[in-house]
Amino acid sequence: VKRITTHTLQKMKQQGEKISMLTAYDYSFARIFDAAGMDVILVGDSASNVMAGHETTLPITLDHMIYHASSVIRGANRCLVVVDLPFGSYQSNSDIALASAIRIMKETGAHAIKIEGGEEILDSVRRIISAGVPVMAHLGLTPQSIYKFGTYSVRAREEAEAEKLKKDALLLQEAGCFAVVLEKIPATLAKEVSESLTIPTIGIGAGPHCDGQVLVMHDMLGINTEFKPRFLRKYLNLHEQITQAAQQYIKDVRSNDFPSMAESY
Ligand code: KIV
Ligand code: NA
Repeated sequence: VKRITTHTLQKMKQQGEKISMLTAYDYSFARIFDAAGMDVILVGDSASNVMAGHETTLPITLDHMIYHASSVIRGANRCLVVVDLPFGSYQSNSDIALASAIRIMKETGAHAIKIEGGEEILDSVRRIISAGVPVMAHLGLTPQSIYKFGTYSVRAREEAEAEKLKKDALLLQEAGCFAVVLEKIPATLAKEVSESLTIPTIGIGAGPHCDGQVLVMHDMLGINTEFKPRFLRKYLNLHEQITQAAQQYIKDVRSNDFPSMAESY
């Protein structure tokens, strides 16, 4: 099988082919998504929410991300695997940012890292890329800054924030990022950014004009029932199906229906 690289994604944008990206945090799901033909698997710091049950992405550590990423890598034969730099692993200075990126690449075998922010993190982005590590940027609603924003609502509706986002996107492209995630911004702004950049944009809640789309696997599989923003399309209702399976199993154990003699030795 031919491995998807950052160059493949660049070519896809040039040819107008949309990029599919989904999160995964373990071997088994990574294997399914990879075999299904996904282009990119993101080991997101959303693991903090969906795997660990935290309210925000802030508590997850670099060691946790490395554990998830090394599991995902063992299931991904074809996909490009991108790993989030978690909160606290890059903000202090570019030495720390570079050291964190190197740990991810060395200890997991992943192919690229993702980092939240624009101009503020440009030095770190440049140094990580100089070290040979591909960087995916992330603008708009950057969940590690939730306490600055105060809400998970749509970003960059106002002119000033939209202008900063457009400027940041260009700076990140010039610094050498291979793609940029645009989270929860108006579709018109995402369209403008996607058209002005030569690198692909990957949207989540950013409308249909991005060069690719990303969702959190637990959300699109309907494992979460409480989280239902407008941008989320649910492809399964796993919460209901898993509940039914668990209840049937409980019933079968209690009634002595399971196991049967055919299921015994
Ligand atoms: O952590 C994550 O899952 C993400 C995507 C939502 C882009 O950063
Ligand atoms: Na993330």
